[in-house]
Amino acid sequence: MDILVTGVTGFIGFHAALRLLEDGHSVIGVDSLNAYYDPKLKAARLAMLRQKVGFSFHRLDLADKGALEAALGDRPVSHILHLAAQAGVRYSLEDPHSYIRSNVMGHLNVLEYARHSKTVEHVVYASSSSVYGEREPGEGFKETDRVREPASLYAATKLSGEMLSESYARLYDIPQTGLRFFTVYGPWGRPDMAYWIFTQKILAGEPITLFAPDKMLRDFTYIDDIVDVFPTLLSTVPQGHKIYNLGNSDPNRLTDLVGAVETACGQDAQKIIKPQQLGDVCTTFADISAARADFGFDPKTDLKDGISTFVAWYKQWMRPE
Ligand SMILES: NC(=O)c1ccc[n+]([C@@H]2O[C@H](COP(=O)([O-])OP(=O)(O)OC[C@H]3O[C@@H](n4cnc5c(N)ncnc54)[C@H](O)[C@@H]3O)[C@@H](O)[C@H]2O)c1
Repeated sequence: MDILVTGVTGFIGFHAALRLLEDGHSVIGVDSLNAYYDPKLKAARLAMLRQKVGFSFHRLDLADKGALEAALGDRPVSHILHLAAQAGVRYSLEDPHSYIRSNVMGHLNVLEYARHSKTVEHVVYASSSSVYGEREPGEGFKETDRVREPASLYAATKLSGEMLSESYARLYDIPQTGLRFFTVYGPWGRPDMAYWIFTQKILAGEPITLFAPDKMLRDFTYIDDIVDVFPTLLSTVPQGHKIYNLGNSDPNRLTDLVGAVETACGQDAQKIIKPQQLGDVCTTFADISAARADFGFDPKTDLKDGISTFVAWYKQWMRPE
């Protein structure tokens, strides 16, 4: 496959590209390398990708109309893995416009590229568990559940991406698969996420802040469990537009996450407790029966093991002695 991976210097894009290159596919990566978090981390991921055979890269902003077409020219692309986005729930309160640019305009421009391409067979794109909004703890969330109450602007833009994809699948017959990721974590991860911030602070002997820890349940999902399905998923072309949950389907308390980080760091955290933050939801819990049945999604990594691998990576890469 000749695969266009957007957001390739981001956390999931980097791992996805490595996995696809390992399988012998060619990867054309694009990314704006924006400064939402330390661009040095993105540059380090890119430097690793550049060493691989079959990888090429274009720096561009997907929100710029025609940027993809200008960069790619006639190069044949058979599959698109669209992962670029302005991520993060909390930052969407601070800079809402960047979410509309990347997640709505950027998504539209990827679809327009696919619409006018003569070679694209399948577009796979990232959505998010946040589209489910605030839900009672209990059963896993199903793709068929009603999703009409996004609790943050981030969630609203990911839901908008799903709607744009639905319309393009119907209008232009572009096969598409949307993936609702549930709190993905692991080595080379995202510095704005709780597991990273807790690790950084605990190792530095600084206090950590927990927002409503007694109420928070998250379906933490290890990166390798996600990227392992990408090769099969990309080559499984659906009829029309399909959406799948990709989560661990085994939610943990926020306090379990803190415990796992404390154990892996070998240090206890000083904790500051604060109320729930605006835009946050209390529970995420994926029902993954559809992904399991259709392409064999089978997450295996429990939180303690995954966090232990992350902390070992963090110590090696972010705090070299
Ligand atoms: N990591 C998670 O837990 C999680 C959960 C749910 C959904 N997602 C979704 O998965 C995808 C990947 O997330 P991630 O965790 O790797 O985030 P990330 O921030 O590490 O990666 C996103 C990448 O997209 C790039 N980008 C942003 N806007 C762009 C634009 N307009 N043009 C070109 N590049 C642009 C950024 O520079 C970044 O490198 C995103 O769509 C995100 O919304 C992630």
